[in-house]
Amino acid sequence: MVADFEAMWAALAPVGRSAASGGYFRQPWTSAETELRAWFTEECRARGLRVEADGLGNVVGWWDAGEGPAVLTGSHLDSVLDGGAYDGPLGVVSALAAVDRLRERGVEPARPLGVSIFAEEEGSRFGLACLGSRLATGALDWERARELRDRDGVALPDALESAGLDGRVDPSLLAGVGCFVELHVEQGRGLDDLDAPVGVATGIWPHGRWRFEFTGEANHAGTTRMEDRADPMLTYAMTTLAANKQARLSGQRATFGRVEVEPNGTNAVPSRVTAWLDARCADEATLTGLVAAVERQAADRADRDGTTLVVTAESVSGLVEFDADLTRRLAGAAGWPALPTQAGHDAGILAAAGVPTAMLFVRNPTGVSHSPAERATTADCLAGVEALADALGRVVT
Ligand code: GLV
Ligand code: MN
Ligand code: MN
Repeated sequence: MVADFEAMWAALAPVGRSAASGGYFRQPWTSAETELRAWFTEECRARGLRVEADGLGNVVGWWDAGEGPAVLTGSHLDSVLDGGAYDGPLGVVSALAAVDRLRERGVEPARPLGVSIFAEEEGSRFGLACLGSRLATGALDWERARELRDRDGVALPDALESAGLDGRVDPSLLAGVGCFVELHVEQGRGLDDLDAPVGVATGIWPHGRWRFEFTGEANHAGTTRMEDRADPMLTYAMTTLAANKQARLSGQRATFGRVEVEPNGTNAVPSRVTAWLDARCADEATLTGLVAAVERQAADRADRDGTTLVVTAESVSGLVEFDADLTRRLAGAAGWPALPTQAGHDAGILAAAGVPTAMLFVRNPTGVSHSPAERATTADCLAGVEALADALGRVVT
């Protein structure tokens, strides 16, 4: 088991890795992600799993056994820009290794067991997180998705085509799924603080992404008197401070992690600043209130700066509470600690679509994620595989 896990991990390690940072660039429908999908398909076939895929890059390897509603487990292979090795791939490699463990134990599933990958979980290319699972569950229409463009202006259908995919949404891919279990590296210090290698998730905080477009007037950085400017950078700068303060005051999360400036010249007052707010709160009313407060302060400041502001919600996900019964069966006799997460996951999309869903977390000693510093020890990863195999063994028989 150790050898299988380590061999799979070693095969993935170089794919999309930046020599400069040691982080990963596995944006969906690029060569790195296409290579990972081919690797996954090959690993499924090597285990005799029947592979089904849609035209988006969502793939399921089926262990056709027994009958009735299927158990699905898996995660994603794409990364954020300069991401860590574990966010996504750990759940995929662990799912394949758990299938191996079940077979070593002689388990004969009474119902089908699928290992899945979902495309563009991070939304790092087209801006909408969990794009693959949203389309596969019907939470998002293809008519809306097809209009999405990446930072270079490439439309989603063209990106898919260049990766050899036809964009076909196939609702039958998940039609027989009775429950979903996602194993994931923990993205904070919760398990490290509790001194536990593995945990279960209680739910996902409501969260979303909002695009703030600040428009002003381009002008000369030297000859324009300070009082004559309409500088959208100032409005943006105050807005990012306001978001930080607002979130701190209420114990929530607000981040401006992406910003585009036009024309982005050193010696010119910019004409436009576009920035994306990522906000996450313990409940939906607090999230709505937080975003409204940031928007109100940004608009007040825009009035004073002589700039204008347009705010557009790009994606908003409600509170997710994982299935209590399934979670109890996951924790089993081990009694793994339970903790909420502020991170989004395909598991949240499946839960919102009415599929009983639960998650297992593996300890992250750095507590850092969405960064090259993300970590998990091999011993903890193997404990995660055992926990997943135990859990799957309980739900497939
Ligand atoms: C995905 O990992 C997210 O929480 O944004
Ligand atoms: Mn993830
Ligand atoms: Mn992530």
